[in-house]
Amino acid sequence: MASAPEAVSGRFQSILIIDLGSQYTQLIARRIRELNVHSEVVDNKLTAAEVKRRGNVIGLILSGGPNSAHKYGSPQIDKKLLALEIPILGICYGLQLLGSMHGGRLEAAKRSEFGRTELWVDNQDDSVLFRGLNPNLICWMSHGDALVTAPRGARITAHTDATKVAAFEYPKKNMYAVQFHPEVSHTPWGIDLLRNFVMGVCQATGDWTMGNFIEQSIESIREQVGEDGEVICAVSGGVDSLCTAAIIDRAIGHRLHPIFVDHGFLRMDEGDKVVEAWKGHFKSRLVRVRAGKRFLDELKGVTDPERKRKIIGREFIKVFEEESRKVRGAKYLAQGTLYPDVIESSGIGMHAHVIKSHHNVGGLPKRMKLALVEPLRDLFKDEVRRLGIELELPRPMVYRQPFPGPGLAIRIIGEVTAERLKILRQADRIVRDEIEMAEMERPWQYFAVLPAIKSVGVMGDKRTYGYPLVVRAVSSEDAMTADWSKIPYKNLEKIASRVIGEVPGINRVCMDITSKPPGTIEWE
Ligand code: XMP
Repeated sequence: MASAPEAVSGRFQSILIIDLGSQYTQLIARRIRELNVHSEVVDNKLTAAEVKRRGNVIGLILSGGPNSAHKYGSPQIDKKLLALEIPILGICYGLQLLGSMHGGRLEAAKRSEFGRTELWVDNQDDSVLFRGLNPNLICWMSHGDALVTAPRGARITAHTDATKVAAFEYPKKNMYAVQFHPEVSHTPWGIDLLRNFVMGVCQATGDWTMGNFIEQSIESIREQVGEDGEVICAVSGGVDSLCTAAIIDRAIGHRLHPIFVDHGFLRMDEGDKVVEAWKGHFKSRLVRVRAGKRFLDELKGVTDPERKRKIIGREFIKVFEEESRKVRGAKYLAQGTLYPDVIESSGIGMHAHVIKSHHNVGGLPKRMKLALVEPLRDLFKDEVRRLGIELELPRPMVYRQPFPGPGLAIRIIGEVTAERLKILRQADRIVRDEIEMAEMERPWQYFAVLPAIKSVGVMGDKRTYGYPLVVRAVSSEDAMTADWSKIPYKNLEKIASRVIGEVPGINRVCMDITSKPPGTIEWE
């Protein structure tokens, strides 16, 4: 079995973010990447030797963190990193650590600063970080300790009411530091400061573009699978699996075998759209396995949510395995693992919040003895979307709202039957169409849920006994927390009248007004 290839990102200039425990570490990496410069989150055990070995590191950033840098046992960095002559930027705890390592005095602040804080720039003419910025700014602070004297030889470049050393620069030592958080959106000009560091100090060329990424990935995939390696890939219709398949298709064409297990729980016309998007665009042939009946049979009489999920997951693997066996000699399995999954599983940034991830094909490689091809493992989700556009995938697919692997089956409470599936599919289409027309910011997710109860209604002088439909719409940043979306009344009214008028079997429409927590986004 071939070994895993070197990460594609190794071929780009890179800024390493040394994680010192901040909840914003990943955000720093994302911001740097917005500047078309690759950045990676690394453990604070990173050694100078490792940085040298990498050979592509043009800058280091020390993240913030909840500890006191002067207390015993607080996270430190390899001192030899400072002798590498690679520019280094300390943020918050990073400033305190750099400052105290170079003779600056660190103390518990007389006045802590949390939240929006007014900042004054000092010695702006000599500052690289604040070049071109306003001399008086609003920044986001979050600290209980403060550096009260800067290292000898360094210039103080900003202060606040409470903090004398809110930023310092020490060009001779290639060292820069800010007490506030330039990476958060509450420091709106923070990206300009990061740009000044990355472009001005580190001299980045901005080579991290999705166009370059595609080129490098194609090379790397070809190196990994060789002249004759065959790769199978599960396509679900989501942007991750589509991009995974699309980029491998570009690299090896017909030696990719994309398999689309259609479990029958997709939304209206979704399966056809996936096939359509594939046709004409790619060299490999997308095999659609229509397994809807099989999944429904397995779910007969099942009402427990966890059992439903398990059955669907198990059946998915079975169908996929059966289909893959038809591909002779395949040695590789492509998977849409993303960078946040990689960070999580490496244990870096344990303090950062956990992004929920689901893998429909989890467990497959071990059973099938296949080597993994993971072309997206360097990318954040927003980069995957940019990649999708660059790969010319249809926009609605690239920007598709999150949709659970088990599909509509977990939005039908109680038993999933063909009849109830048809009802939900029709109603869900109406709900989505109408919400998309509403004059409001598009919610993070918006869909319909079909509960397992019936109630009495009246329609055209006739008594009805039908299902209610629940409209669920939420705003969120990362699905970990969510707020229910305030859909305008007139759109809700339209949803209710259309659903009841057009979907036989439903006689009532309700709205879920629970946020997460305490609710979850999905109902099962
Ligand atoms: P909950 O319901 O836990 O959902 O608030 C959080 C986010 O995860 C999505 N979700 C899933 N995604 N497979 C997936 O790929 C799944 O089994 C699954 N279950 C929930 C959900 O839509 C929301 O975005």
